[in-house]
Amino acid sequence: MFPITHKRVLSDSVFEMGVHAPKVARKVRAGQFLMLRTDSKGERIPLTFSDWDTTCGEVRFIVMRVGKTTHKLSHLEVGQELADLVGPLGRPTHVGGLGRVAVIGGGVGAAVAYPVARAMCEAGDEVTVVLGARNKDLLVLEDEFRALPLRELVVVTDDGSAGEKGLVTAPLKRLAEADAIDCSFAVGPAIMMKFCAQTAREHGVPCTVSLNPIMVDGTGMCGACRVSVSGKTIFGCVDGPDVDGWGVDWEQLMSRQRVYADLEREADSEYSKGCSCTL
Ligand SMILES: Cc1cc2nc3c(=O)[nH]c(=O)nc-3n(C[C@H](O)[C@H](O)[C@H](O)COP(=O)(O)OP(=O)(O)OC[C@H]3O[C@@H](n4cnc5c(N)ncnc54)[C@H](O)[C@@H]3O)c2cc1C
Ligand code: FES
Repeated sequence: MFPITHKRVLSDSVFEMGVHAPKVARKVRAGQFLMLRTDSKGERIPLTFSDWDTTCGEVRFIVMRVGKTTHKLSHLEVGQELADLVGPLGRPTHVGGLGRVAVIGGGVGAAVAYPVARAMCEAGDEVTVVLGARNKDLLVLEDEFRALPLRELVVVTDDGSAGEKGLVTAPLKRLAEADAIDCSFAVGPAIMMKFCAQTAREHGVPCTVSLNPIMVDGTGMCGACRVSVSGKTIFGCVDGPDVDGWGVDWEQLMSRQRVYADLEREADSEYSKGCSCTL
């Protein structure tokens, strides 16, 4: 069992959780993820490590409540336990020797962008972060990004309630047109990553994306996370989650993400009956 050691509400639907898992904390690197179960009958879900502390043995992740399992997780408090937590899984993000990088984090993708940007800064890369959300209440980790030695932090919201009004692709396009970046890294909703990769490609800028296909075991056994990249089928959990954004078959990824949508909606509405929580 994995005791919950920390919980912080970041917005109406997003929270940060810390769990005591010292063996896992010792091995994590930026860009890797974990699979957890809230209870022995629950499903496994993948979440990215947002932070870790080898001294106290804590790992942290940031969760957006979108359905039954993330809803269940949001009800757990410090002192309670997770049934299991496996990790670190997936390949770490490549950092160092990249030169001038734009790291783009959209919505809860900021949870992945933050450790990646931090690791890139530590490795000597020159990092500009573009942090985007639908509105200011959904912006997460802005203070943490500001504490990093970045070249620049650009905040963007769809409705203009914080930072620039618009989409994350606008500052990415600006940076590419000004020849201010050598490469880019994008993480967020699939549609956002698709347009970041497209914008970067139009300017000849490489774009790594951190993919989020449906995952079941997270270890390369079930094939649920298969994605087509540059005409080759890869398994996101073991070959990724980072892949070359230029080559992703985005329509296939997005349609596979929706395969269980009806069942997911039913499960969440059944679980939510009588639940008055705000998060
Ligand atoms: C490598 C990876 C890292 C991720 N990191 C984070 C993170 O740091 N923070 C965060 O909030 N979310 C993250 N996600 C997404 C997260 O796993 C899903 O939001 C979660 O599984 C939803 O489960 P649910 O039961 O609450 O919602 P459901 O109602 O079951 O599903 C809602 C949506 O979440 C996605 N989803 C559902 N089940 C899975 C699954 N088993 N694997 C992947 N996606 C699924 C689907 O797109 C689905 O439409 C990550 C996904 C992947 C693949
Ligand atoms: S989640 Fe099963 S092979 Fe990737």
